[in-house]
Parts: sequence; structure tokens; C-alpha cells
Amino acid sequence: MRKTIFSGVQPSGQITLGNYLGALKNWTKLLDEYNCIFAVMDLHSITVRQDPKELRERSLKLLAQYIACGLDPEKCTHFIQSHVPAHAQLSWVLGCYTYMGELNRMTQFKEKSQRHADNINAGLYTYPVLMAADILLYNADLVPVGHDQKQHLEIARDIAERFNSLYGDTFTVPDPFIGKVGARIMDLQDPTKKMSKSEPAGSISLLEDENTILKKIKKAVTDSLGYVKYEEGRHGINNLLSIYCSVTGKSVDMAEKEFEGKGYGDFKKAVAEVVIDELRPVQQKYNQLIENQDYLMKIIEDGAFKANEIAQKTLKDVYEKVGFIV
Ligand code: TYM
Repeated sequence: MRKTIFSGVQPSGQITLGNYLGALKNWTKLLDEYNCIFAVMDLHSITVRQDPKELRERSLKLLAQYIACGLDPEKCTHFIQSHVPAHAQLSWVLGCYTYMGELNRMTQFKEKSQRHADNINAGLYTYPVLMAADILLYNADLVPVGHDQKQHLEIARDIAERFNSLYGDTFTVPDPFIGKVGARIMDLQDPTKKMSKSEPAGSISLLEDENTILKKIKKAVTDSLGYVKYEEGRHGINNLLSIYCSVTGKSVDMAEKEFEGKGYGDFKKAVAEVVIDELRPVQQKYNQLIENQDYLMKIIEDGAFKANEIAQKTLKDVYEKVGFIV
């Protein structure tokens, strides 16, 4: 039996180079070894206000980007989270096994409620419970994510263990899979913050044109030391080195040697070139896919069918265990 991996991205904006290097690129490496399930997490995205028309479009565009990045639908299941009602249903049950003290500790909730102070809704608060439901429904063994999701993975493990100890073995306790490089790509304008879909100025979108990528990387904030070396506190240079290494697969040592004696101008140009070369085939494939809406719709229909089958089984087991009539 193959082990299962589950992961997903929120269709809350243009996906970034951070999403790609921290998540999607790693997922493609796991396709042949695992039973892979990758969803478009639209339920999560409404914790922040979305334009309905844009959200609908972005969900399908995100699916096209999954496939363009190499997540072959022949090898994995893709679906839209809201097409599988068991996510919301299990989330309710798990919410009754999650403590407010645990949710109060979530750094992402604190950050997002600062950024959206006019809309600190209950969904933003219980977001990690829904994320636990996503993962536990499929009994995922492994969840490949970027560093910012580590805390959410930990709470999912705690909820699974708590439920298992009360009702007997029900859920697989998932392990996080966080890449060594690329797990924390930072904002190009403020490299102390993570690169995020909601900050387009400091981020590179997967579909950005070559000129814009070059300009954005040239304008990336660095320092005045003038040499390329990974050193504590040099957020800008460290970030560009992480991008370079995670795109090329080179070690930091190798990259440092390559840029010995060279200035930031040359270094930035080289970073931009490898990023552009990496994204070019993704963009070409995306442009073809997005023209073929029927194909994309068929993939999410098939995916929802498969996902519902698995999810319903888990939900039924949980309902029985907690004492619902099923
Ligand atoms: P989201 O949509 O914010 O990001 C999707 C994936 O990209 C990673 N990521 C990054 N990696 C490196 N550097 C960055 N700057 C960067 N920004 C984002 C994220 O860690 C993530 O892996 N809560 C999740 C979506 C989700 C999910 C799930 C993931 C919902 N349910 C179940 C896994 C399993 C999120 O908001 O990701």
C-alpha cells in the first residue's frame, strides 16, 4: 500500500514563487512514490473577504497552475475543497475536540487579525481545525508544506492523537514534510516578512512576465556589504540565495563560490535568469490549459468523486464513534 500525501493552496490571490518553491515544486517530486491528493482550498480563502467572481476564476486558474507545474492529473487527485462537504462536517466535530487555548497560540491567526482588523471572524480563528479536517479525512501520512504551516500541522497532529486516544485508532497522525531549502521564501521588498499572495509588490507571481520578474529581482532589498554569502541577519541576500539554490538544486556553498568576487548586479541578474527559465515552461503549459475549461472541469468532477468516496468513509467512522446515528 502506498502512503498518502495531502496538500493544498488557497485561491486567495496570484500564487507566488514562495508557494511554488515551498510547496508545489516539492509535491511534483513525490508523485511516483505516494498516493497524492492536492486540493484547491476555497473554504479557507473566505476567511478573508473575496470577490465571488474572482474567487471562482482563481480556483480554476489555480488548478491549471497545479497541472502546469507538473502535478499530472493521471498521477494525483485534484479537487475543489467546497465540492467535498465532509471537510466542513468533520471540521465541526473536530472543533469540539480543540481547545481555545490551542487556537489562541496560532501565530497566523494573530498576524492575519492584525492585517484584517476590521474582519476578525470566527472562521479565521477556527481555520486550523478545518485544515486538520482536510488532512485527517484522507488519513494522510505526509503533508508537504512551507515553513509557515508548521504550527497548523502540529495542531492537526494533536487533534488526531486526542481523538484516537478517546475513541481508538481513527486517524493517521500526519507528518509534515518541509523542504530544506525554499521552505521560507521572503518578500523581496521586506525580506524579514514571508513572500505572500497578498503583497504583490514584494512577490513574484508564477504567471508574471519576464520583464517584471527581472525588474522585481533587480529592485530586491539587499544590504551594503557588497559580497554574496549566506550570513546571519542578511535577510535580503539570504533570500536571493535560497531562491537561487532551490531553483537550481545547487548547494549554498556552490552558489557562494560561483558569485565570489561578483557584485549584487551580476548576482541578481543570475537569480532572475534561473527564475525566468524555471517559470517559462510552466507559463506556456498554463496558457494552453486555461483555454481548455472543459478539461479542467472534468478533472475537478472526477477528483471530487474520488475524494468524496474516501472522505465519506472517514466521516462515517467518526460519526459512529462520537455517537451519531448513521
Ligand atoms: P497557502 O495558500 O498560504 O500556501 C500554500 C503553500 O505554500 C507555502 N508557502 C510558502 N512556502 C515558502 N515560502 C513562502 N513565502 C510561502 N508562502 C506560502 C505554504 O506553506 C503552503 O504549503 N493553510 C494552507 C492551505 C491549506 C492546507 C490544508 C495545506 C488548507 N488546508 C491542508 C496543507 C494541508 C495555506 O494557507 O497555504
